[in-house]
Amino acid sequence: MRREAWLILGMGAVVIVITASLLYTIYLFSQTQHDQDDADRTAEFEGTLPVEATADPGGEQLYARSCVACHRESGRGRAGAFPPLAGHLPSLYAREGGTDYLIDVVLYGLSGDIEVDGETYRGFMAPMAHLDDGDVAEVLNYSLQAWGNAYQLPEDFTAIEAEDVADRRDQGLAPGDVRDKRKELFEAP
Ligand code: HEC
Repeated sequence: MRREAWLILGMGAVVIVITASLLYTIYLFSQTQHDQDDADRTAEFEGTLPVEATADPGGEQLYARSCVACHRESGRGRAGAFPPLAGHLPSLYAREGGTDYLIDVVLYGLSGDIEVDGETYRGFMAPMAHLDDGDVAEVLNYSLQAWGNAYQLPEDFTAIEAEDVADRRDQGLAPGDVRDKRKELFEAP
């Protein structure tokens, strides 16, 4: 009787191990599939870049260093906490004053309620004025074109230049002021 109990227990353990490894394999497979989708998308996207600026890997590195912690590698941020840049930045760029606004967010930060894709964010993004003019331009150009954003840019898109960033310095804006500028951005026609 005791032996049988051990046998049942042993078989139970084997079944559990097999089920777990099966589930893990399925998980790994779905992850690979996901990565593959991203790779396909990137390959497709690299072939049709409207602007050469993205060929510069500097922007990607800057993004990885300064932005990825919140806006994530996918550029999708985290709903309710960090707004997405993917599928979103081109719509800001396209607005009157959009370039200036994007530069201001990086130089002066942003705080206060904003709404993106029906989701409200009551967050705070710290100013990053320590980045030099060229780096601010580059990281924004990268974010404007990565993740398929390039497809959504207006045809007359011109890459942001270091001089554009220099022009926005020394305004002494607070993160809340930048939020007011965002409001104006959406009120303008
Ligand atoms: C520590 C987290 C964090 C980091 C790092 C960060 N951001 Fe943000 N970002 C936020 C948050 C939070 C908001 C929204 C703030 C709010 O709700 O007012 C935001 C908002 C923005 C917006 C405005 C979006 C809109 O719809 O107006 C842009 C543009 C942006 N970030 C770009 C960047 C870039 C580019 C970098 C890197 C240079 C970066 N962020 C780094 C947290 C971060």
